[in-house]
Formats: sequence, C-alpha cells, structure tokens
Amino acid sequence: MPITAATSSIAQTRELAAALAELARPGDLFLLVGDLGAGKTAFSQGFGAALGVQEPITSPTFTLARAYRGRLEMSHLDVYRLAQLDEVLDLGLQELLDGDAVTLIEWGDVIAPALGADYLEVRIGFGEADDDRVITLTPRGGRWSARTRALTLAAAPWAAATGDAGGEA
Ligand SMILES: Nc1ncnc2c1ncn2[C@@H]1O[C@H](COP(=O)(O)OP(=O)(O)OP(=O)(O)O)[C@@H](O)[C@H]1O
Ligand SMILES: [Mg+2]
Repeated sequence: MPITAATSSIAQTRELAAALAELARPGDLFLLVGDLGAGKTAFSQGFGAALGVQEPITSPTFTLARAYRGRLEMSHLDVYRLAQLDEVLDLGLQELLDGDAVTLIEWGDVIAPALGADYLEVRIGFGEADDDRVITLTPRGGRWSARTRALTLAAAPWAAATGDAGGEA
C-alpha cells in the first residue's frame, strides 16, 4: 500500500528524503519518478546530505551516473536521455545494484522493473500551490514491503492530510 506525504517547500522535500535515508541499507534502490522539475534531484540532495555526503549533489543528467561517499556509498543516476535498456545495462546498473551502494535513479521507473529489482518507488507529483508536492512511496518487492511500517513512521511528519484535520494554529 502506498504511503502518501505532502511537502510545501524544497526544504521539506529534502527533510523527508533525509528521514528516508536513515532507513537506507547497502544495496537499496530508490526510483525517483516525476515530471521535469518535480523535485527528484532535490530529494537526492536531502538524501545524500543525511548520508553525510559533503560534495554538492548536482543533477547527473549529462553524466548519467555519479558516485558519492557518505555513511554509505550513494550512486545517483538520471536515465532520462537513455532510450533503451541496453544503454542502461552498459552503465553497469546490475553491478551497482549487486554492490553495497545505495542507488537513486531519476526517471528509472521503466528500467528497474525490467531488471527485476526490489525497490522503493518515490513518486513526486505537483500539488495545488507552486511549491506543493505530493510524494507517494510504494514498496516493491519483499525487501521493501518488509519495511512498510518503518517507512510510514519515517514519513509521518509529512503525512498527507486525509479529510478535515482540525486544530490549525
Ligand atoms: N516542495 C518542493 N519540493 C521539491 N522541489 C520544490 C518544491 N517546491 C518547489 N520546488 C522547486 O522545484 C524544483 C525541483 O527541481 P529538481 O531539479 O529537484 O527537479 P527534478 O525532478 O530533478 O527535475 P529533472 O526532471 O529536470 O531532473 C526546484 O527548483 C525547487 O526549488
Ligand atoms: Mg533532476
């Protein structure tokens, strides 16, 4: 069952990503899905910062894949321009997934299921206001569905409102 969160600034999206990074284990795969400018790279930045990555995390659009070192190694890919699966395989994606790094792939929703991987899908959609984002977390495969409860707790501060929640400050 997907977990839905809502953010209303880039800072909040980075904080949510940081909270999820605390759950990350070696070999984990995060697929970042969402239209241009949704916040996939922003998510990756917050995630990397929480892993202790010191370097600035930039969009890997023109390099395809970059490796960063923090508490865990983090591989950051953007496969937007890759039309074909064999190009992705040429990147050594399977080797990455078999290794100890945590892998984040922007636009990876088409390719990872083809690889049969377990992954967490992080889908970032636009909300009502310019800076509103709706972020849906969907565990795929046993590796992630076993962590649904931990994910729900980690995302709880940004849990999307369901119905009318009173008590506004
Ligand atoms: N709630 C929010 N969360 C994330 N980003 C936000 C939010 N509100 C506004 N923004 C803005 O949206 C933009 C997100 O850009 P980002 O590069 O992270 O998107 P992207 O999904 O990686 O795009 P691309 O598909 O081009 O790689 C930034 O300019 C950021 O400031
Ligand atoms: Mg990006």
